[in-house]
Amino acid sequence: MKGTIFVELVNMAEEAFGEDVVDEVLENADLENGGAFTTVGNYPCSELIKIVVAFSEHSGISAEKLQRMFGHWMMNHFVENYAEFFEGKNDSFSLLEAVDGEIHVEVKKLYPDAELPEFATDRLSDDRLKLTYSSPRPLVEFCHGMVEACLERYDQKAQVDRCPVPHQENATDFDIRLEK
Ligand code: HEM
Repeated sequence: MKGTIFVELVNMAEEAFGEDVVDEVLENADLENGGAFTTVGNYPCSELIKIVVAFSEHSGISAEKLQRMFGHWMMNHFVENYAEFFEGKNDSFSLLEAVDGEIHVEVKKLYPDAELPEFATDRLSDDRLKLTYSSPRPLVEFCHGMVEACLERYDQKAQVDRCPVPHQENATDFDIRLEK
């Protein structure tokens, strides 16, 4: 995974728990590189999971909740740093529908070694979108946080239900119903 993701996870943890706590937790997390990440590096997703578990154990916040918080954090980071991907997207559904065929395609051109998930979308009605996430990585909670943050970005409220896709590890259907 791209170093940016690790750097931002550490930034989020610093804001949530303070720098001293972050140094201590990373030192004790048994990480391959001792916890020093750069935006230009690439690191295994398993290290990201280790970091999340270490902060979960330290804080008592579940790993699922932390991943979801991180989805919100990352979405805000993308809004600030990749404004061009949001141009012409006037609501959350337009943005979510553009991730697989447009946004992540551009991301892959910028960073050929990026490891990206796959999305399929189905607009069930004006106010209901089915979004299917699949990935070899166990980041569905992170994805859920991104979806929530995307709704917030457009000031839209929705009921978001989730159901694992049978026989496909990590794959999940999101059923997003806008509230009027
Ligand atoms: C709008 C601008 C966006 C940018 C610039 C962007 C970029 C990226 C980048 C750089 C990665 C990391 C790849 C790696 O570490 O190798 C990533 C991963 C990911 N992105 Fe996006 N993304 C965007 C929008 C979204 C949205 C709206 C969603 C949500 C539905 C999404 C879902 C994900 C997920 C779940 C991953 C984690 C990898 C995985 O699960 O396999 N992204 N994205």
